Amino acid sequence: MDLRYQTGFGAHFATEAVTGALPVGQNSPQHVPFGLYAEQLSGTAFTAPRHENRRSWLYRLRPSAGHGPYVLYEQPRLSSVFDGPVTPNRLRWSPIEIPAEPTDFVDGLMTLAGNGDVAAQAGMGVHLYLANASMKDRVFYDADGELLIVPQQGVLTLVTEMGRLKAGPGHIAVIPRGVRFRVEVDGPSRGYVCENYGAALRLPELGPIGSNGLANPRDFETPVAAFEDVDAPTQVIQKFQGKLWSAQWDHSPLDVVAWHGNLAPYRYDLARFNTINTVSYDHPDPSIFTVLTSPSDTPGTANVDFVIFPPRWMVAEHTFRPPWFHRNVMSEFMGLVHGAYDAKEGGFAPGGASLHNCMSDHGPDVASHRKATEAELGPHKIDNTLAFMFESRWVIAPTKFALEHRALQADYDACWDGFPKARLP
Ligand SMILES: [Fe+2]
Repeated sequence: MDLRYQTGFGAHFATEAVTGALPVGQNSPQHVPFGLYAEQLSGTAFTAPRHENRRSWLYRLRPSAGHGPYVLYEQPRLSSVFDGPVTPNRLRWSPIEIPAEPTDFVDGLMTLAGNGDVAAQAGMGVHLYLANASMKDRVFYDADGELLIVPQQGVLTLVTEMGRLKAGPGHIAVIPRGVRFRVEVDGPSRGYVCENYGAALRLPELGPIGSNGLANPRDFETPVAAFEDVDAPTQVIQKFQGKLWSAQWDHSPLDVVAWHGNLAPYRYDLARFNTINTVSYDHPDPSIFTVLTSPSDTPGTANVDFVIFPPRWMVAEHTFRPPWFHRNVMSEFMGLVHGAYDAKEGGFAPGGASLHNCMSDHGPDVASHRKATEAELGPHKIDNTLAFMFESRWVIAPTKFALEHRALQADYDACWDGFPKARLP
């Protein structure tokens, strides 16, 4: 299996699995090499400004238009309806177990929360996947959004139309809206998915940081072209307007022999994140840890930010070093890939999740607060940890499924019980 990568975020790639397959100097020649079929896949409106515009040209064995109608596919746990009810309460979930019965990526997706509206192309869905079987004779794509996959357990091989990439814990993978793929697993697998209905994820502005830092563009890896030539019935499942739809094709749609363009799947090793923080006192707002952002129509106010809390040195002087107490206008969904998060001594486990919505009071728990106020403030490495956040300008509503699941912790509020009152002179 060809697992070579091309590097560069949002670069204009050109790649062919068979020498001579990619037309030169033209997108749609009268005769495409080898009788391949040219297809444009657009990720933005044709007329989007040049710096926003994303599209690729695919050259395939058969046109992907050759298929019959889609019919509804029942997968009741995956949704774009966040039927809560939404409350101002702080929520936390323990990890949900990976099922014992054979379950692939598509059937193993379950929606915990979300916001916005798929039809309006704003907001996001927040899902988990719990799988133990590779997708067989079927392929998935999402017409509702781009998929940001955060593996927590197990290495995924994403066999996409545009090439093959691997992502395990510590990596993320992003599959653009509409790109078809099959997921192969190497065992029990769990992870998080941000289904971004809005503008495509991109690197944040760096402002006074300068021209380097945070996630560096060259560390993003996009697969080289790879295809399969399979003339056998293949079930193609798509998510469209919140529901899954299925059609039977007479061949695998993963038959793109060559492609070029800047709309493509990619992966990123979060260990390459250039973490920037204080070298004097206090700590900057956690936006300093933004890996990728999907902007909304309001400058600086994200549809969704993907933020990580990676291993890093803590050196701040005369400072309470963990995240402070805060109430934010933005809403925060958090997950944990491995290790422990520095604002919570217990209860937030790898594979678990928490949700702190607009203006909800949160911050360190009692044990973390005590430890941080009593700590010797020498240089200290926070290591062996990787937490992350999907942060959005819009309130993140949980699903009924998530609220009724036994993984929801009934006693989460108790972690902020027992703070001693300040003593005035
Ligand atoms: Fe927070």
